[in-house]
Amino acid sequence: MDLKGRHFLKLLDYTPEEILYLVDVAADLKEKKKKGVPVDVLRGKNIALIFEKTSTRTRCAFEVAAHDLGMGTTYLDPVASQIGKKESIADTARVLGRMFEGIEYRGFGQDIVEEIAKYAGVPVWNGLTNEFHPTQMLADLLTIKEHFGRLSGIRLTYLGDARYNTGNSLMVVCAKMGMHFTACTNRKYYPDEALVKTCQEIAAKTGGSIHLTEDVNEGASGADVVCTDVWVSMGEPAEIWEERLRDLSPYQVNAKVMALADKGAVFMHCLPAFHDHNTGIGKEIGERYGMAELEVTDEVFESAQSLVFEEAENRMHTIKAVMLTTLGGVVEDT
Ligand code: CP
Repeated sequence: MDLKGRHFLKLLDYTPEEILYLVDVAADLKEKKKKGVPVDVLRGKNIALIFEKTSTRTRCAFEVAAHDLGMGTTYLDPVASQIGKKESIADTARVLGRMFEGIEYRGFGQDIVEEIAKYAGVPVWNGLTNEFHPTQMLADLLTIKEHFGRLSGIRLTYLGDARYNTGNSLMVVCAKMGMHFTACTNRKYYPDEALVKTCQEIAAKTGGSIHLTEDVNEGASGADVVCTDVWVSMGEPAEIWEERLRDLSPYQVNAKVMALADKGAVFMHCLPAFHDHNTGIGKEIGERYGMAELEVTDEVFESAQSLVFEEAENRMHTIKAVMLTTLGGVVEDT
């Protein structure tokens, strides 16, 4: 499998075999990291990390993975870069492509990361756009594969706002990998119809399925993996909370939902999560609307079924696999 020179913008661009290959490379890199085997095969290379939105996991994962691979990193934060303000996307991409061997972009529209990729001349990696979050998906797949030993046939239910990057990307990745995806939410929060159709067509070939329902009993029953995400995405106005709480509270992941799922079901969340009042927003919203927890209860978040921290760790191993393979690095078998 040769992915050298490829961009990593969305998983619709990758075959199931390529996705599985990236997950398996990540598993190997994880094992090497645990054993202390160095993989600094990309020494002398440098990458640019453009973050137009905030991040903990994605930024740290790219930086640690790059350092482990022997690469230097330059972080461009939401205010320090000229991108899109004083310099066009195309010009920025051409400048960075002359200095760096790879570019990560986290920000707004998918069209922006696609435009960077068009002009950069080096691999570009999507660290999250409004539409897709592909590096998160590889971490989720690795976590699921580690736990269940397989991907094909896994029943994954996503509760909450299914219209943005996480819901979209889970639907795509389930379709690609022969998994059964259910979006369980208020109809207003169903994913884009055209993307649903595309994913149903893919799933028809892989043995997976795509299902949408407003009924929690139907959506959660028998699920192997129960997923959710925050109810207000980055960049949305704070005034939206009242409407979101009204619409999405019935889709909170709580003990009742987990009891509907399969006996061996796990809980996943890309994080950050509002599962208590120990965050500024969680406290403010929770107190204003009288809710102790938002998209997931603390009980579920802290339960033995919760894989959220394994999932967070796997961001680093999977991002390392993406950079290693697309930059053409070769790691010896141990
Ligand atoms: N899951 C995720 O993308 O986390 P960050 O926003 O912290 O990068």
